[in-house]
Amino acid sequence: MINPTLAEMATYPFVRLEEARRRLVAAGVEVIDFGKGDPNEPTDPIIRQALIEAVPERAPYPLAQGLPELRAAAAGWCDRRFGVEVDPDTEIVPTYGSKEAIFSLAQVLATAGRTVVFGEPAYPVYERGALFAGAEVQTLPLLRDNGFLPDIDAIPDDTAIVWVNYPHNPTGAVAPLDFYERLAEAAAERDFYIASDEAYTELWFDDPPVSALQTGDRSRTIVFQTLSKRSSMTGYRSGFVAAPPEVIAALKAYRPTVGTAPQEFVQRASVVAWNDEHHVEETRSRYRAKREVLIPAIEAKGWEIVASGATMYLWVVGPDVDLLLEHGLLVAPGEFFGPSGAGYVRFALVPTLDECVRAAAILAGL
Ligand SMILES: Cc1ncc(COP(=O)(O)O)c(C=O)c1O
Repeated sequence: MINPTLAEMATYPFVRLEEARRRLVAAGVEVIDFGKGDPNEPTDPIIRQALIEAVPERAPYPLAQGLPELRAAAAGWCDRRFGVEVDPDTEIVPTYGSKEAIFSLAQVLATAGRTVVFGEPAYPVYERGALFAGAEVQTLPLLRDNGFLPDIDAIPDDTAIVWVNYPHNPTGAVAPLDFYERLAEAAAERDFYIASDEAYTELWFDDPPVSALQTGDRSRTIVFQTLSKRSSMTGYRSGFVAAPPEVIAALKAYRPTVGTAPQEFVQRASVVAWNDEHHVEETRSRYRAKREVLIPAIEAKGWEIVASGATMYLWVVGPDVDLLLEHGLLVAPGEFFGPSGAGYVRFALVPTLDECVRAAAILAGL
């Protein structure tokens, strides 16, 4: 018998997008795919070269604790970027991208029969990880009137984990430090962990977003970082968790069982990626150029762009997804990410700049 949690699970929404894309291509339509958030940007040559040079004659099993050089690079980056001192030996563990670590957190902490809370619309993995761990799930609506921040007072009493994700997928909303401070206070009073998915902190276009690590009390804060979007390294699978020592110790105990340590040659390329900001600035300017093409084209249709201050996403009120599809523009319907996403559409700025220019022309002709 298949695990009923798996059997009851709706199709991962992006599988449905991929099916739509294939249907269109088969019908001879040129598809410009703003659907899935997988960057098409090149990985910087210094990172690729570091990977090539690190491939050994024989690659042994990587250890869950990761290479000391990688932990030091991650800690150094937290210090430079957020002004936070994190101990590389007791407060950092490398991860295989961040998705697997996000998925399994509910198995590492005591959550069975307790509640895992997250705002919606959301990246779907917080919920799936919680359900597989036998936890209850409680969503909080993320609404425009609240700046797409959850109502901290609505967090239920038996909560084990509260997931937050700013800059936010899919809305592009950014959280102020004061929000994290209030959340950290609530976590201390009511005994839950804050799990902060910070996959998009480096894709900003105004001021650099803050991290949940920057609060006065980070004793209950678990941060998930990744090179996937920052360094356009989705296929490398490399990230890290920064957390209090007891959580890192638990992860170091749990992770060898699952076997999700990144390959050492990937870890060595990751050291180069965390230590370089030049390529990240370039990545931001590529996304900025695409925003400069698409934002006016979308606004010219009378569709409103809300939040969208950071990330690779534009969160748009108004477009008809099917009409866009007919013209070869694939976008993600907001309700894919949860009921509060209804009425919105997410454009992921992953097509090339040329494709964005073509998409703007298609929009103008609609
Ligand atoms: C909000 C959010 N968190 C985490 C991830 C996971 O990224 P990765 O596993 O590549 O680090 C993604 C990927 O799209 C995401 O959108």
